[in-house]
Amino acid sequence: MYQFDKAEYEKRMEWYREARFGMFIHWGLYAIPARGEWVRSVEEIPREDYMKYFYEFNPTDYDPKKWAQAARDAGMKYVVLTAKHHDGFCLFDSQYTDFKSTNTKCGRDLVAEYVEAVREAGLKVGLYFSLIDWYHEDFPHYGDRNHPMRNHPECGNEGRDFDRYLTYMHNQVREICTNYGKIDVLWFDFSYDQLRGEAWRGTELIDMVRSLQPEVIIDNRLEVSGEGYGSLATGNPAPYHGDFVSPEQMIPPNGIQDVNGEDLAWEACVTMNNNWGYHATDHYFKPASMLIKKLVECVSKGGNMLLNVGPDARGNIPEESMERLAVIGAWMRKNSDSIYGCGKAPVGKPDFGRVTAKGKKLYFHLYENAIGPVPLPGLKKEDIASIRWLATGAEIPISTSWVHSDYPDIVFANLGPDPVLPDEIDTVLEVTLK
Ligand code: GLC
Repeated sequence: MYQFDKAEYEKRMEWYREARFGMFIHWGLYAIPARGEWVRSVEEIPREDYMKYFYEFNPTDYDPKKWAQAARDAGMKYVVLTAKHHDGFCLFDSQYTDFKSTNTKCGRDLVAEYVEAVREAGLKVGLYFSLIDWYHEDFPHYGDRNHPMRNHPECGNEGRDFDRYLTYMHNQVREICTNYGKIDVLWFDFSYDQLRGEAWRGTELIDMVRSLQPEVIIDNRLEVSGEGYGSLATGNPAPYHGDFVSPEQMIPPNGIQDVNGEDLAWEACVTMNNNWGYHATDHYFKPASMLIKKLVECVSKGGNMLLNVGPDARGNIPEESMERLAVIGAWMRKNSDSIYGCGKAPVGKPDFGRVTAKGKKLYFHLYENAIGPVPLPGLKKEDIASIRWLATGAEIPISTSWVHSDYPDIVFANLGPDPVLPDEIDTVLEVTLK
């Protein structure tokens, strides 16, 4: 029986808090219709019509080594792949269903190849697993909130045995926790209405998961969804509590705290465009500069960012995503000290950007330059050991200019004569305290 142990929890969370930045990968049959991962539900596609994608699925370009390298080169430290999404299609060789990648033309256990590639790249291995399953006959159809057949009375729920579905679901989770080596993150998705906690037989499920993968980190969606924090925030964690809160497509304004005001671990999961799964006409991609600043924002508020890519039906990450990952990686190669292991700073947010911190290091992220020397709010001159451009290590002197003599209590940094910041996206000053 799993019992919450604070010391054990903090220990297993160490790498996760250090990592700060991960890749989410949404991939499956829905990449063929290419209208997002909810296409079967949104368009109320009957199961037999959806099966054409199963018979067609053959991602000839699938090479998870390329995905893992893209993640590593972007500075990401963990990757979470959809092993099974809501459509019920398994990217792994489950013995409990025929609706799986090994039964498609590709005939491959896509998860097996993925975990090997991610480990080889030195990254932590995460798997997303949908609690919801629109393929399984015992999952509620008519009247469910999301099922593709929710509006079809002919798909009534007579004879559907939800407990039999739960046994199926638990068996698949056991397969994932048994057949693919060490799993570092297990990302369940998602609870809604009465389907949460024990309705999933959550205690039994988590006892099994934690007995097979004692160091695994689990999200909070056995209890909630992108909304709701879960029982860890109540100070009274349920056996199936999440290890982190999972805000979706938003960044919590002040980070996330529990009922006692203690900071909780959280991870904002964010798409690059507006879809998790591949969407052929969704070209509304966030600029790389924005994504870098959002990563900084998450870290400055004590959280992680899980940035999503949705590979296409051939198995390729879209060019728009690769371009952004390259820019993010270039910035991270020079500035990752201001991200990894960092969190909230003991000073307020400056109006020129944000601040992240790690021990005696404060990282001032300058998005815009000041007129004259740059004020560094909240610091005392006598507390400062050094100021450096993080990217180059070059010394930044504390300014002694007369122009700010009216503000003796504020430390100003002398950035030199060039009014243009070296990094147009985010120039980082590393301030080391005594
Ligand atoms: C929502 C979406 C699901 C996606 C998840 C990622 O739950 O419904 O498709 O996988 O967000 O956080």
